[in-house]
Amino acid sequence: MNKMTSQQLRTHLLEYLNDGHFHSGETLAENVGLSRSAISNHIKALSQLGLEIYSVKGRGYQLAQSIELLSHTRICKGMRSAQTELVHVENIVGSTNDILRQLLQKRAENGTVCLAEAQTAGRGRRGRTWVSPYGSSLYLSMLWRFDNGYQAMTGLSIMVGVVLNNTLTQFGVRGTRLKWPNDVYGDNKKLAGILIEVEGQADASVSAIIGIGVNLRLPNDVKGIDQAFTDVSALIGSSFSRNEISKKLIENLWAALPVFQAEGLQPFINDWDKADLYKDKEVILISGEKQIKGIARGIDNGGALLLETKQGIEPYYGGEISVRPA
Ligand code: BTN
Repeated sequence: MNKMTSQQLRTHLLEYLNDGHFHSGETLAENVGLSRSAISNHIKALSQLGLEIYSVKGRGYQLAQSIELLSHTRICKGMRSAQTELVHVENIVGSTNDILRQLLQKRAENGTVCLAEAQTAGRGRRGRTWVSPYGSSLYLSMLWRFDNGYQAMTGLSIMVGVVLNNTLTQFGVRGTRLKWPNDVYGDNKKLAGILIEVEGQADASVSAIIGIGVNLRLPNDVKGIDQAFTDVSALIGSSFSRNEISKKLIENLWAALPVFQAEGLQPFINDWDKADLYKDKEVILISGEKQIKGIARGIDNGGALLLETKQGIEPYYGGEISVRPA
């Protein structure tokens, strides 16, 4: 057998641990062909990637909750071969957005998508870190080119939020809401986020790297998330499949992006309205140093937030909303 890389060894170890039982260091060492101390180091590395692993003297190691590893075969089941070639399933990456940037340099096609088990440098909006523990969530990035510069991308993040929210609804996650510009909330806590990074020139062809993170089943001891959060398992229990959700989200994005490219945001506005977290609520729009109080009145065809103040209803394209109690 060829020598396995550390990543392959860890995946192999996880396959043993994933049966819900305790495994002694000795048995694991025998099965994987390593020393017990090497096993202990790999377990430490897996814990550092955010996996919750119990280590009990005399009994060995056990995964706190079993995980469904990503499977290219399951995600691509029923897809045409040209489509399966667009799907890249990785193990541990810095950020799936960065993997896509590399693929873009190799002239990747529209719809190329990368998923990973874990991110060591996951990014959120506004310079935040996106905590990305191993095997417990969805980290996905998709590439799409727009020929007419930034203008053609106006409202893209709103559209992606709508597609993401609809996909979650298809899996029985009900009552989720969209927080402008593109967060998905469940039970008033953050469930998913979108980070779109753009490559290219403002007035020529630009490529959007659409990064999506969905909390599926975060470890109980997850650390480092600096806002109220929830996950899909807290909302609907754990009878969902990571691979099935990934597949559906990819297919829904593939279907929606050409529509958005041809018709803009208009076909998606109705769905946004239905899920708008702040519709007709009093909010404060914070944009840099500026704070404007008003009533949120939905979005316009460009995805701008419509804010009603004493001056009337005006569109706002940037910033971050925070709600103020009435
Ligand atoms: C946010 O709400 O702040 C956006 C979070 C976006 C996270 C996703 S996970 C996949 C992709 N890779 C990253 O590094 N970030 C995005």
